[in-house]
Amino acid sequence: MLSLQTVLISLLALAFTYVLYLVLIEPRFNPLRRLPGPPSHGLFGHHMALVMDPSRSPRVHEAFVKQYGRNVRIRGILPWDQRLFTLDPVALGHVMKNSMIYEKPWQSRRLITGLIGCGMLAAEGQVHKRQRRVATPAFSIQNMRELVPLVFSKGSRLRDRWSNMITTIAVKDASDSAQSEHGLRIDVCHWVSRATFDVIGSAGFDYEFNAIENETNELFNAYKEMFEIAISQQNGGIRDFLSIYFPLIDVLFPDKKAYTIRRCQEVIRDVAGRLIQEKKRKITDAEKSGDTHNDRDLLSLLLKANAAADLPPEQRISDEDILHNINTFMFAGSDTSSLSITWTLYLLAMYPDLQTRLRKELLSVTPPTPLDTLTREETSSLYAAVAELPYLENVVRESLRLIPPVHSSIRVATRDDDVPTSAPVKLTMTGGRVVESRTIRVPKGSFVHVPVEGFNLDRDVWGLDAWSFNPDRWDNLPEAVSSQPGLYNNTLTFSAGPRSCIGLRFSIIEMKTFLYILLTNFVFTKTDEKVGKANVVLTRPYVAGKQREGSMCPLFVKPYVREAL
Ligand code: HEM
Ligand SMILES: *[C@@H]1O[C@H](CO)[C@@H](O)[C@H](O)[C@H]1NC(C)=O
Ligand SMILES: *[C@@H]1O[C@H](CO)[C@@H](O)[C@H](O)[C@H]1NC(C)=O
Repeated sequence: MLSLQTVLISLLALAFTYVLYLVLIEPRFNPLRRLPGPPSHGLFGHHMALVMDPSRSPRVHEAFVKQYGRNVRIRGILPWDQRLFTLDPVALGHVMKNSMIYEKPWQSRRLITGLIGCGMLAAEGQVHKRQRRVATPAFSIQNMRELVPLVFSKGSRLRDRWSNMITTIAVKDASDSAQSEHGLRIDVCHWVSRATFDVIGSAGFDYEFNAIENETNELFNAYKEMFEIAISQQNGGIRDFLSIYFPLIDVLFPDKKAYTIRRCQEVIRDVAGRLIQEKKRKITDAEKSGDTHNDRDLLSLLLKANAAADLPPEQRISDEDILHNINTFMFAGSDTSSLSITWTLYLLAMYPDLQTRLRKELLSVTPPTPLDTLTREETSSLYAAVAELPYLENVVRESLRLIPPVHSSIRVATRDDDVPTSAPVKLTMTGGRVVESRTIRVPKGSFVHVPVEGFNLDRDVWGLDAWSFNPDRWDNLPEAVSSQPGLYNNTLTFSAGPRSCIGLRFSIIEMKTFLYILLTNFVFTKTDEKVGKANVVLTRPYVAGKQREGSMCPLFVKPYVREAL
């Protein structure tokens, strides 16, 4: 008879042997080992901090290329976790194009799913395909244009709010330290984030958070709290690591974090779930009475696409999936947009001459009457004129290139694959023999690091000034840029291939509208507080010495007074 003890000991011995095998034997046969790469020291000597930290990554990437070439082996957290790091446009193009081979790792998918459900960001394979097909019409050029008046109205709200803050403080206390000759010190990151939440709430499912007014809305706070926890989870300890691998932990022994997430999810399920049912009813009612249903929010469009007569039943998605995708739009579309606007305002504060030049161009487009009084049509044609402005276009491109909100991403090979390269790579075979090859063998289960910022800042491609803010570069790009992969103007800011960002057009409308309204009404000046970048899920601004207070981007904001002619 086997005793329980014997069984347990054998199991432990087996597990131990497997770990030994993973640590000592497997890496020797991993073909990624043949690639050149930085040495790793000890059991926990990984390279993730080097390639993920935006205050170091540009220099690290450049040193890698110089020393090892464009295809490099790096080590992940665990000793057997050999990863492909590539700044090779051919290799990366292959990985991003073949999204059926290179999926998102289950670890990150589980993290996202545990939070917002299995929407487009987390799903893979057929499930993802179905969701993306239903969502694509909602993001069409035509539908995005319909959202323009809404974005303008939120931009105007923020303008009014800031104007009020500036006059109130000026009246209350002329010697307040929050003010200077340059205006009122405003945490632009915080306020723009409230505004982009309002935009996505309204555009996403026709719901008013009124976050520009105050932060009291229940649904707003549920989303906000949940996302903040998700973010703090990233630099969490052992428990966070364990609960990815053993999610049962959170069910059996929930900690404060798990409780909070559950509470937020209940609010969201409750409020947003009700919204979905109401919308559905509205659409069927309209159909029955022969009216057309004119709501333009993403939820309505998703429901309509999902109910379209020409969509085979097996390709429809469930109400549950609809909710998960609304959550996904909130998650993927609020902080990213607010950071892209915040970083642009920050850059323009650092380069006052460029800010003046851009303002001059923006002022050349004047609405027939004040913004708040425009009709839908007038707002649309105003935006059409703004969207055409060449310097604004260059500023937006350059800001998104220089500080992409998504610093890097990751994929995992779901089967053995040979990745093509742009130039021969030197592989060191067992025994020390070096051979040249045009492909890299990536074994099933290996991670591929996707250096978004790395591609955008490559000085061999973009020129020696690639690390500085120079919107004019876009009028005269080096030849090499045109072979860079990427959805958006040869940058990886919105990723590339079938899993690239569905919200690109939405984001550009949001950025251009907010920049138009804010820069024609305010002047932005840097403060004496030094703002740095940190990669906490996204690249966020922090004040040096005040990292613990969370992301912040204080700027002086002063009303812009038009010079009399
Ligand atoms: C400046 C703003 C934005 C940036 C820089 C950005 C960037 C990205 C990137 C890099 C990805 C790929 C993620 C990965 O592969 O790991 C992505 C995916 C996605 N984004 Fe965005 N995004 C922005 C705004 C938005 C907005 C406004 C929405 C929606 C309203 C949105 C919805 C999505 C969705 C649904 C996906 C997943 C697509 C899929 O996997 O099929 N994004 N975004
Ligand atoms: C917050 O703003 C909303 C919308 O403007 C308003 O209805 C509500 O009374 C405000 N709540 C507080 C506590 O100020
Ligand atoms: C830049 O990206 C936008 C949006 O995808 C596109 O319309 C435009 O043609 C691109 N321009 C260049 C020069 O790549």
